[in-house]
Amino acid sequence: MQLRDSLRNLVESETLKPGTRIPSTRQLAVDIGVSRSVVVEAYDQLTAEGYLTSRRGSGTCVAEHTGAKTGASALAPLAEEPAPDARWDLRTGTSNTIDFPRAEWLRCMTAVINEAGHQELGYAPLAGVPHARHVLTGYLGRVRGVRNRPEDLMITSGFAQGLALVCRVLLDRGHTTLAVEDPGHPGEREFIATSGLRPIGIPVDADGLDVERLEASAARAVLVTPANQFPTGVRLSRERRAQLVAWARKVGGCILEDDFDSGLLDTADRPPALQSLAPDRVVYAGSASKTLAPALRLGWLVGPSDFMASVEHVRAGWDIGCSGLEQLAFARFIDTGAFDRHQRRLRTEFRRRRRTVRAQLDTQLPGAWLLSGPGGLQAYIRLPPHIDEQSLVRAARHRSVLLRGGRHYAASTAASPPALVISYATANCTALSRSLGEVGVAYREQSERREEPDISRRTT
Ligand SMILES: Cc1ncc(COP(=O)(O)O)c(C=O)c1O
Repeated sequence: MQLRDSLRNLVESETLKPGTRIPSTRQLAVDIGVSRSVVVEAYDQLTAEGYLTSRRGSGTCVAEHTGAKTGASALAPLAEEPAPDARWDLRTGTSNTIDFPRAEWLRCMTAVINEAGHQELGYAPLAGVPHARHVLTGYLGRVRGVRNRPEDLMITSGFAQGLALVCRVLLDRGHTTLAVEDPGHPGEREFIATSGLRPIGIPVDADGLDVERLEASAARAVLVTPANQFPTGVRLSRERRAQLVAWARKVGGCILEDDFDSGLLDTADRPPALQSLAPDRVVYAGSASKTLAPALRLGWLVGPSDFMASVEHVRAGWDIGCSGLEQLAFARFIDTGAFDRHQRRLRTEFRRRRRTVRAQLDTQLPGAWLLSGPGGLQAYIRLPPHIDEQSLVRAARHRSVLLRGGRHYAASTAASPPALVISYATANCTALSRSLGEVGVAYREQSERREEPDISRRTT
């Protein structure tokens, strides 16, 4: 065990780099003075865990893709590249943490801790503290039309854990694929593939996921963001919603509804959760990451009773639940109306930021247009065909603006029209005006370069 643990530490800390050849079992046994079987056993265990690979003739090496923890989840988009020195970060994957309601959250947390007895300070049930599940069930029914019972709601460590649990249950139920929206969240696709399911990209158009293409695929399970498609911001149309539910019923399939930012959508025309149409087929997932803060790691899953029983069974082998105190603080935050108030404030602020993006588009990026609908955290901007998306992203970076092109989100390698995706989660109206002003300079330079006459050809 000592040998196994120290080798694992060396791999995890990358002291032993991927591809490094390690001593033979015979040699190491002699070097450290133990019997060879001890070394063989340690190597076998680390091979099974994915830390080592052994090939006949080439000995044992550190695996190229080890089970080593990198500390960065695929779902944490900012972790994939360190934020370079830049004045403005308009990349998706962030949240408006500046406006986190510190005082109100502290009030709720203080009250919970003051009132906590032996039970509240002990282990919470795996699926969540009953009171928090009760409050959240009522809240989701009221604001999203979600139809369920507290017993079928589980509080998770963010959507990421919910997704991981659902993938595991799908695998256990014989699924081999999970359809995803294209464009969609690249981290999610990676996460799904890591779980053992094959993600299949299904195109998204102005009405949301193309359900006919889904019907033509081999998948019997799909992950969708129907209220506000990530990253395009289009909404799944009424017809498509019905079509999607009919598909799920026909194939005995499962729809995982990621309702991650519905709290930021205008309430006046926000459609109810897809789950309300088919509680028997939809597993509904939500998260506090966009409306409060990712650091809370608070999410929830709601599904049919038998599915949720399987989810609980899987989770029993993973952890023993999330922080009960945090769950109770969240329940209080909802109960006192603080959550509604906070989301109302955020919606007003994001509406303002969106208006700024729109105005800047008109003046700074003439010919580009906003694809996404009226709410959410990011703008999906289609660029005229002559603009090279990657050059524009690079030029923006030179002007101290970090943003991403549409390609970053595409699952298929087929060419897609050039686009920019701009998150306004962390940039206020002033920052948006300035940063988009810089993008505008880069945009005009590209447009002008195209219009310049080709002098070299004329003179020859
Ligand atoms: C599409 C999508 N779904 C869900 C989430 C929330 O994930 P989590 O609750 O694990 O923070 C995010 C966060 O970036 C997201 O982009």
